[in-house]
Amino acid sequence: MARSRDPNFPPYFYEAYRSTVRRSPRQPLIAVPHTLSEITGPGPVVSSADGEDNDLTQNLGAEGEAIGERIIVTGRVLDDDGNPVPNTLVEIWQANAAGRYRHRIDQHHAPLDPNFLGFGHCRTDEQGNYQFTTVKPGAYPWENHANAWRPAHIHFSLFGSSWVSRLVTQMYFPGDPLHELDPIFNAVPTDAARDRLIGKYAHDVTKSGWALGYRFDIILRGPEGTPFEPPVPSRTAKR
Ligand SMILES: [Fe+2]
Repeated sequence: MARSRDPNFPPYFYEAYRSTVRRSPRQPLIAVPHTLSEITGPGPVVSSADGEDNDLTQNLGAEGEAIGERIIVTGRVLDDDGNPVPNTLVEIWQANAAGRYRHRIDQHHAPLDPNFLGFGHCRTDEQGNYQFTTVKPGAYPWENHANAWRPAHIHFSLFGSSWVSRLVTQMYFPGDPLHELDPIFNAVPTDAARDRLIGKYAHDVTKSGWALGYRFDIILRGPEGTPFEPPVPSRTAKR
Protein backbone atom coordinates (compact mmCIF):
# COMPACT_ATOMS: atom_id res chain seq x y z
CA MET A 1 0.00 0.00 0.00
CA ALA A 2 1.51 3.33 -0.97
CA ARG A 3 2.17 5.79 1.81
CA SER A 4 2.95 9.46 1.71
CA ARG A 5 6.61 10.44 1.66
CA ASP A 6 6.97 12.61 4.76
CA PRO A 7 6.67 10.89 8.18
CA ASN A 8 4.78 13.97 9.42
CA PHE A 9 2.06 13.46 6.87
CA PRO A 10 -0.98 11.23 7.16
CA PRO A 11 -0.69 8.10 5.04
CA TYR A 12 -2.70 7.77 1.85
CA PHE A 13 -4.35 4.72 3.39
CA TYR A 14 -5.70 4.93 6.95
CA GLU A 15 -8.36 2.32 7.46
CA ALA A 16 -10.35 4.16 10.13
CA TYR A 17 -10.76 7.06 7.69
CA ARG A 18 -13.11 5.30 5.33
CA SER A 19 -12.61 7.42 2.22
CA THR A 20 -8.95 6.47 2.10
CA VAL A 21 -9.79 2.79 1.64
CA ARG A 22 -11.08 3.39 -1.88
CA ARG A 23 -9.05 6.39 -2.96
CA SER A 24 -5.57 5.44 -1.76
CA PRO A 25 -3.20 4.24 -4.48
CA ARG A 26 -2.46 0.53 -4.56
CA GLN A 27 0.46 0.70 -6.94
CA PRO A 28 3.79 2.44 -6.46
CA LEU A 29 3.52 6.10 -7.33
CA ILE A 30 4.94 7.23 -10.65
CA ALA A 31 6.78 10.53 -10.70
CA VAL A 32 5.47 12.80 -13.44
CA PRO A 33 8.19 15.20 -14.56
CA HIS A 34 7.14 18.82 -14.23
CA THR A 35 7.32 21.02 -17.25
CA LEU A 36 8.23 24.68 -17.15
CA SER A 37 4.59 25.76 -17.16
CA GLU A 38 3.80 23.78 -14.00
CA ILE A 39 6.85 25.03 -12.12
CA THR A 40 6.67 28.67 -13.10
CA GLY A 41 3.02 29.45 -13.48
CA PRO A 42 0.42 30.58 -13.87
CA GLY A 43 0.06 30.40 -10.10
CA PRO A 44 -2.83 31.89 -8.14
CA VAL A 45 -4.31 35.23 -9.07
CA VAL A 46 -3.12 36.85 -5.87
CA SER A 47 -3.78 40.32 -7.21
CA SER A 48 -7.51 39.66 -6.77
CA ALA A 49 -7.13 39.09 -3.01
CA ASP A 50 -8.02 42.36 -1.36
CA GLY A 51 -8.15 43.40 2.25
CA GLU A 52 -11.81 42.64 2.80
CA ASP A 53 -11.58 39.02 1.72
CA ASN A 54 -10.08 37.95 5.04
CA ASP A 55 -13.22 38.84 7.03
CA LEU A 56 -15.68 35.96 6.81
CA THR A 57 -18.12 37.68 9.17
CA GLN A 58 -18.83 40.45 6.65
CA ASN A 59 -19.63 38.95 3.29
CA LEU A 60 -20.18 41.18 0.33
CA GLY A 61 -23.89 41.73 -0.24
CA ALA A 62 -24.95 40.26 3.09
CA GLU A 63 -27.44 42.14 5.23
CA GLY A 64 -25.70 41.62 8.54
CA GLU A 65 -22.98 39.86 10.42
CA ALA A 66 -22.37 36.13 10.72
CA ILE A 67 -23.76 34.49 13.84
CA GLY A 68 -21.37 32.76 16.21
CA GLU A 69 -18.37 33.19 18.44
CA ARG A 70 -16.24 35.77 16.62
CA ILE A 71 -12.56 34.79 16.39
CA ILE A 72 -9.35 36.09 14.86
CA VAL A 73 -7.03 33.48 13.39
CA THR A 74 -3.53 34.64 12.57
CA GLY A 75 -0.10 33.17 12.08
CA ARG A 76 3.01 33.06 9.95
CA VAL A 77 3.90 30.92 6.99
CA LEU A 78 7.52 29.83 7.37
CA ASP A 79 9.94 27.58 5.53
CA ASP A 80 11.91 24.88 7.31
CA ASP A 81 14.72 27.33 8.12
CA GLY A 82 12.26 29.61 9.92
CA ASN A 83 12.27 32.20 7.16
CA PRO A 84 8.96 33.93 6.38
CA VAL A 85 7.24 33.02 3.14
CA PRO A 86 5.75 36.24 1.76
CA ASN A 87 3.09 36.72 -0.88
CA THR A 88 1.57 33.26 -0.47
CA LEU A 89 -2.15 32.95 -1.12
CA VAL A 90 -3.83 31.54 2.00
CA GLU A 91 -7.42 30.35 1.52
CA ILE A 92 -9.72 29.01 4.21
CA TRP A 93 -13.14 27.38 4.20
CA GLN A 94 -15.23 26.12 7.07
CA ALA A 95 -18.64 25.21 8.44
CA ASN A 96 -20.71 27.91 10.11
CA ALA A 97 -21.19 28.17 13.87
CA ALA A 98 -23.93 25.52 13.71
CA GLY A 99 -21.70 23.04 11.88
CA ARG A 100 -23.18 23.45 8.39
CA TYR A 101 -21.37 24.12 5.12
CA ARG A 102 -23.03 26.18 2.44
CA HIS A 103 -22.73 23.38 -0.09
CA ARG A 104 -25.30 21.20 -1.84
CA ILE A 105 -23.63 18.05 -0.54
CA ASP A 106 -24.10 19.14 3.06
CA GLN A 107 -27.54 18.09 4.28
CA HIS A 108 -26.80 18.23 7.99
CA HIS A 109 -29.93 19.23 9.91
CA ALA A 110 -28.48 22.49 11.16
CA PRO A 111 -29.33 26.03 10.02
CA LEU A 112 -27.54 27.91 7.28
CA ASP A 113 -26.52 31.43 8.18
CA PRO A 114 -27.54 33.87 5.43
CA ASN A 115 -24.65 36.10 6.45
CA PHE A 116 -21.96 33.45 6.33
CA LEU A 117 -20.55 32.01 3.12
CA GLY A 118 -17.73 30.16 4.82
CA PHE A 119 -14.68 31.01 2.76
CA GLY A 120 -12.06 33.73 2.54
CA HIS A 121 -8.53 34.40 1.44
CA CYS A 122 -5.57 36.70 1.91
CA ARG A 123 -1.90 37.00 1.07
CA THR A 124 0.99 36.72 3.49
CA ASP A 125 2.89 39.97 4.05
CA GLU A 126 6.66 40.41 3.93
CA GLN A 127 7.03 38.73 7.35
CA GLY A 128 4.85 35.80 6.28
CA ASN A 129 1.86 36.93 8.37
CA TYR A 130 -1.74 36.18 7.50
CA GLN A 131 -4.93 36.99 9.43
CA PHE A 132 -8.62 36.12 9.22
CA THR A 133 -11.67 37.24 11.14
CA THR A 134 -14.36 34.57 11.25
CA VAL A 135 -16.64 32.66 13.63
CA LYS A 136 -15.69 29.47 15.41
CA PRO A 137 -17.05 26.58 13.31
CA GLY A 138 -19.35 24.03 14.87
CA ALA A 139 -18.77 20.29 14.98
CA TYR A 140 -20.75 18.35 12.36
CA PRO A 141 -21.73 14.73 11.83
CA TRP A 142 -20.37 12.71 8.92
CA GLU A 143 -20.89 9.19 7.69
CA ASN A 144 -17.48 7.70 8.34
CA HIS A 145 -18.66 5.47 11.18
CA ALA A 146 -21.47 5.24 13.74
CA ASN A 147 -22.09 8.54 15.54
CA ALA A 148 -19.12 10.17 13.85
CA TRP A 149 -18.59 13.91 14.41
CA ARG A 150 -15.78 16.04 13.07
CA PRO A 151 -14.13 18.26 15.66
CA ALA A 152 -14.33 21.99 14.95
CA HIS A 153 -11.80 22.79 12.23
CA ILE A 154 -10.90 25.28 9.54
CA HIS A 155 -9.58 24.05 6.18
CA PHE A 156 -6.48 25.82 4.90
CA SER A 157 -5.00 25.90 1.40
CA LEU A 158 -1.65 27.52 0.65
CA PHE A 159 -0.66 28.41 -2.85
CA GLY A 160 2.85 29.39 -3.82
CA SER A 161 4.07 30.65 -7.12
CA SER A 162 2.91 27.76 -9.31
CA TRP A 163 0.18 25.15 -9.73
CA VAL A 164 2.27 22.43 -8.14
CA SER A 165 2.91 24.39 -4.96
CA ARG A 166 -0.54 23.98 -3.40
CA LEU A 167 -0.72 22.48 0.09
CA VAL A 168 -3.86 21.71 2.10
CA THR A 169 -4.30 21.18 5.83
CA GLN A 170 -6.77 21.76 8.69
CA MET A 171 -6.55 23.80 11.87
CA TYR A 172 -8.24 22.44 14.99
CA PHE A 173 -9.12 24.12 18.28
CA PRO A 174 -7.55 23.41 21.67
CA GLY A 175 -9.33 21.25 24.22
CA ASP A 176 -11.80 19.64 21.84
CA PRO A 177 -12.97 16.24 23.19
CA LEU A 178 -13.61 15.05 19.63
CA HIS A 179 -9.91 15.03 18.69
CA GLU A 180 -9.28 11.57 20.07
CA LEU A 181 -12.27 10.17 18.18
CA ASP A 182 -11.51 11.74 14.79
CA PRO A 183 -9.79 9.46 12.25
CA ILE A 184 -8.66 12.37 10.07
CA PHE A 185 -6.88 14.02 12.99
CA ASN A 186 -5.51 10.70 14.19
CA ALA A 187 -4.23 9.71 10.75
CA VAL A 188 -1.44 12.20 11.44
CA PRO A 189 1.23 9.87 12.81
CA THR A 190 2.71 11.52 15.92
CA ASP A 191 1.56 13.50 18.97
CA ALA A 192 3.95 16.31 18.04
CA ALA A 193 2.64 16.53 14.49
CA ARG A 194 -1.00 16.43 15.65
CA ASP A 195 -0.26 19.19 18.15
CA ARG A 196 0.98 21.39 15.31
CA LEU A 197 -2.50 21.17 13.76
CA ILE A 198 -4.11 22.73 16.83
CA GLY A 199 -4.37 26.52 16.82
CA LYS A 200 -3.17 28.00 20.11
CA TYR A 201 -5.26 30.46 22.08
CA ALA A 202 -3.43 33.81 21.90
CA HIS A 203 -4.46 36.46 24.41
CA ASP A 204 -2.31 39.06 22.63
CA VAL A 205 -4.41 38.48 19.51
CA THR A 206 -7.71 38.60 21.42
CA LYS A 207 -9.42 41.99 21.07
CA SER A 208 -11.17 43.28 24.15
CA GLY A 209 -14.95 43.15 23.80
CA TRP A 210 -14.67 41.89 20.23
CA ALA A 211 -13.10 38.52 19.43
CA LEU A 212 -10.96 35.69 20.78
CA GLY A 213 -7.58 35.21 19.13
CA TYR A 214 -5.84 32.08 17.92
CA ARG A 215 -2.39 31.66 16.44
CA PHE A 216 -1.66 28.98 13.85
CA ASP A 217 1.79 29.03 12.27
CA ILE A 218 2.31 26.92 9.19
CA ILE A 219 5.74 25.45 8.46
CA LEU A 220 6.07 24.19 4.94
CA ARG A 221 8.71 21.45 5.27
CA GLY A 222 11.15 19.70 7.55
CA PRO A 223 10.90 17.86 10.89
CA GLU A 224 8.83 20.68 12.43
CA GLY A 225 6.61 20.91 9.38
CA THR A 226 2.84 21.22 9.48
CA PRO A 227 1.18 17.95 8.42
CA PHE A 228 -0.51 18.34 5.06
CA GLU A 229 -3.17 16.17 3.51
CA PRO A 230 -2.49 13.89 0.56
CA PRO A 231 -4.09 15.15 -2.66
CA VAL A 232 -7.73 14.13 -2.96
CA PRO A 233 -8.97 13.03 -6.39
CA SER A 234 -12.51 14.30 -5.83
CA ARG A 235 -13.58 17.46 -3.98
CA THR A 236 -17.11 16.23 -3.45
CA ALA A 237 -16.41 14.11 -0.36
CA LYS A 238 -17.37 15.90 2.84
CA ARG A 239 -14.59 15.91 5.41
FE1 LIG B 1 -14.59 20.11 7.06
